[in-house]
Amino acid sequence: MIYLDFAASSPLLPSVRTELFRAFEEEYSNPSSAHKLGRTSAEKIENVRKILADSIGAYKSEIVFTSGASEANNLAIKGYVLANQQKGKHIITSSIEHKCILAICHFLEKEHGYEITYISPQKNGIIDSQDVIQAMRDDTVLVSIMHVNNELGSIQPIEVIGKACFERNIKFHVDAAQSYKKIAIDVDELNIDMLSISAHKIYGPKGIGALYIRDLRETRIQPVIHGAGQEYGLRGGTLPTPLILGFGAAVEDPTIENTYTEVNNLNCLFRTKIIEIGGAINSPDIKCIPHIVNIRLPKFDAAHFVGTSDFLCSQGSACSSMNIEISYVLAEIGLNFSEANQSLRLSFGVDHDFKNLLSLLKKFIELKQYHS
Ligand SMILES: Cc1ncc(COP(=O)(O)O)c(C=O)c1O
Repeated sequence: MIYLDFAASSPLLPSVRTELFRAFEEEYSNPSSAHKLGRTSAEKIENVRKILADSIGAYKSEIVFTSGASEANNLAIKGYVLANQQKGKHIITSSIEHKCILAICHFLEKEHGYEITYISPQKNGIIDSQDVIQAMRDDTVLVSIMHVNNELGSIQPIEVIGKACFERNIKFHVDAAQSYKKIAIDVDELNIDMLSISAHKIYGPKGIGALYIRDLRETRIQPVIHGAGQEYGLRGGTLPTPLILGFGAAVEDPTIENTYTEVNNLNCLFRTKIIEIGGAINSPDIKCIPHIVNIRLPKFDAAHFVGTSDFLCSQGSACSSMNIEISYVLAEIGLNFSEANQSLRLSFGVDHDFKNLLSLLKKFIELKQYHS
């Protein structure tokens, strides 16, 4: 089997595995305990908090551990807007955010009377920053725009949007699940107030992530999980020491950064070959991370391929047993039902090998001959 689905989740890096397994064996006490073992684990957790903070130009007191990016997004959006209702009830986001952001926004619309403006992308999958700026109003309490789209790899203009939010005193949240460690992020330079990240997208363990909150102690946030005061009272529950230490090892490991150029070369070559065999690229030509490419092949049955092939990748459309729904992201960039069903998302990782992609191309050519 050949794994080409790193944007969905990634295997553990060796350094992460070593630290994770060590911590599962040794760091079993409750890090809130006052005894020696508890205090040692708590210190190590604080060290990871600092590693995370340093990686985005933040203070360690601004990092809250969560179970992943979905929970971080919930804490950022629901937590902030529900605690600041007097500031206004208008939110701006995009129509191609991850499903969890859209679900949070639908919940706020339905249950709390918020008005949400969903900005559509341009045909290349990139949001026009001017569309976001024009949608800003006096009662806009939050703008939430993802850094990199998970289906297309398109990079959004968060620097321009962040500046506009700063000038208008509007909080700016960024879902960086797909960009963290692939694009350098400095929360001050980009004027980001809240940033969501997830360990399993960067070869860390599943079930751990974090939310950066600027000036956390001065910011009113409603907890999403009430508990015994952990994480500044914002996120109750015993901290999962091994997962946090594994997350820290993933952040410190330079493999993602060190393999960037090779992944980029592989992506460029693969795109060229796809065009040569009569396919098309749904991802943008520029402003796209090299780790994700969304392709389209004529007469191709992506659902069948994903379900049966030994090349493990994702489909552009989401299927349920009752009906086939096309991917809302591909629909938003103008693809019709059959084009979306001919689309595949491939995502590349650190153990890339062009030979694997050549065998995938060979498979595509065989399938093309079969269909014609
Ligand atoms: C852009 C984006 N946001 C959020 C998530 C959810 O992350 P997690 O699995 O850590 O909750 C994902 C994962 O697919 C993602 O790609």
